[in-house]
Amino acid sequence: MQEISSNIHYIGAQDDNLDLFEGQYPLTAGISYNSYLVDDEKVAIFDAVDMRRLYDWLVSITETLGRIGAAAPDYLIVQHVEPDHAGCIGALIDRYPGIQLVCTAKAAGMLSQFFDGIDFASRCTIVADGDTLSLGRTNLKFFTAPMVHWPEVMVTLDTTDGVLFSADAFGTFAMYGDHAGGWDDEARRYYANIVGRFGASVQMLLKKLRGETFTTVAPLHGPVLSDDLAHYWTLYDKWSRYEPESEGTLIAYASVYGGTALAARRLADMLRSEGCRDVVLMDLCRHDVSYAVAEAFRLRRLVLCSVTYDGDLFPALHAFLHHFEAKKLSGRRVGLIENGSWAPVAGRLMADALGRMKDMTLVAPAVTLRSTLHDSDEPALQALAREILK
Ligand SMILES: Cc1cc2nc3c(=O)[nH]c(=O)nc-3n(C[C@H](O)[C@H](O)[C@H](O)COP(=O)(O)O)c2cc1C
Ligand SMILES: [Fe+2]
Ligand SMILES: [Fe+2]
Repeated sequence: MQEISSNIHYIGAQDDNLDLFEGQYPLTAGISYNSYLVDDEKVAIFDAVDMRRLYDWLVSITETLGRIGAAAPDYLIVQHVEPDHAGCIGALIDRYPGIQLVCTAKAAGMLSQFFDGIDFASRCTIVADGDTLSLGRTNLKFFTAPMVHWPEVMVTLDTTDGVLFSADAFGTFAMYGDHAGGWDDEARRYYANIVGRFGASVQMLLKKLRGETFTTVAPLHGPVLSDDLAHYWTLYDKWSRYEPESEGTLIAYASVYGGTALAARRLADMLRSEGCRDVVLMDLCRHDVSYAVAEAFRLRRLVLCSVTYDGDLFPALHAFLHHFEAKKLSGRRVGLIENGSWAPVAGRLMADALGRMKDMTLVAPAVTLRSTLHDSDEPALQALAREILK
């Protein structure tokens, strides 16, 4: 039994053999569905887990209840009804028929979409922004957090012990307790791809929490955070304002025969010679798009390089732009390189897509390659390198 504080016990489940989170994001170090049990006069559980780990979760609950000498949990606090957290609610109710759910009105409405045959109207205690609940010694305060991933989300502050149960916020693609690879990179990939579109909603939540005091953040995925909370808070604030962390440049390219890739590498050399220290070259055909989206969040500058393909963009570049636009990323300096053997149109198509996004600065017209990189293209590439770094 792992302890978050003297009376908060970790009862989450580790998923070390899921290949794709939410059906699309590759996992390299597994993921956890965190769940917490608060031992008090009333026993409360924070969030259920994915059905994939029902058995592990029920075993943890049974063992923990046994250790604390409780027969059954009184409350399940449902902060988010997405199936990676709420999937096991039906099974929990079967096992503990007296359990009361605590959630927002929106969550109660959505739960009935996921489970037939449960009367959520009588089962749910509805809480609104700022409402409190006492478990005995422990006092809980609820903060609605609409669109900090889904519309029904809330987070909960344990004002007695200073623990913020933060739902998907401050979560990461990692297992519980795993800080080994550092938090930032996978948390950024998680944030950018999963929450990235909802920056304004995250800002509203941060604003609500600004005057509150807590020393531990207990998210629904990945490690519990207690040291250096300012670091995680600062990153969340930056990401949700779409502010880059670095002045560097992402060069994201898609190439069939290597000509465009050659130009991308040449540009990377030029940028480094011009003094740009943080240059990331990414072959969009070989890296999952979620990594490119995360780097686009991290870096201020971006150069998109695409071949023209069937009168269109190369599919991998097209997919990147689509994700990128969906995340509402804004305020980047962007350069373009297009390639084509008879009628290059990739530059215009990329410029059109960028034109639909907020506050994107196209630094110069696209550099056009004819089939491959020629010596005669060097001045245009050099000019692009200088412009993008301004
Ligand atoms: C299936 C296919 C479709 C293509 N469609 C176009 C096109 O519509 N217009 C064009 O100018 N070039 C087109 N091309 C040519 C490539 O854009 C061109 O050869 C480019 O130089 C390839 O660059 P790379 O070496 O980076 O792959 C096509 C190539 C392939 C393989
Ligand atoms: Fe979620
Ligand atoms: Fe989640």
